[in-house]
Amino acid sequence: MIYTIRKYGDPILRKKAEPVKAFGEELKQFFQDMLEVMYSAGGMGLAANQIGVLKRAIVLDASTKDSTIVMGLANPEILEASRDKNEFEEGCLSFPGINEKISRPKSVKVRAFDADGKELLIEASGLLAIVIQHEIDHINGVVFTDRMSPVRKMLHNKELKELKKLNTPGHK
Ligand code: NI
Repeated sequence: MIYTIRKYGDPILRKKAEPVKAFGEELKQFFQDMLEVMYSAGGMGLAANQIGVLKRAIVLDASTKDSTIVMGLANPEILEASRDKNEFEEGCLSFPGINEKISRPKSVKVRAFDADGKELLIEASGLLAIVIQHEIDHINGVVFTDRMSPVRKMLHNKELKELKKLNTPGHK
């Protein structure tokens, strides 16, 4: 199956994705496909709606030089978020060429399920906390520009307008 990455302006990025109900081989394969798309695009995370599938499924690679962290998660949800915030320069495969500092809780506790339907409780901090929050936003129809301060978002006005024009159906 060939997937293409949906870009800003595509209405699917604004939709709330549906819970994953079927676990097993097919989901495992789907996570593999998503990881392949993500790696070939040079990303650290990808949500299913970014490839046109309205399912609450995300993949990520938040590996550092000290540890390998690669995950495929179904139905992830944030149970707790720290009050402390961290600022990190984020990018997004649906917003090529745009990078901006985003402030998010420093650590989060996440509940999710793996491909076999096993429940996972993840205490995420550092890079993992950033990527996991970014991807969970996606499956809720939230994109990282929504998290930018208004002043910073304004700096990207022109690029955002162009992306939107290119990717909104019937807006040629
Ligand atoms: Ni993204």
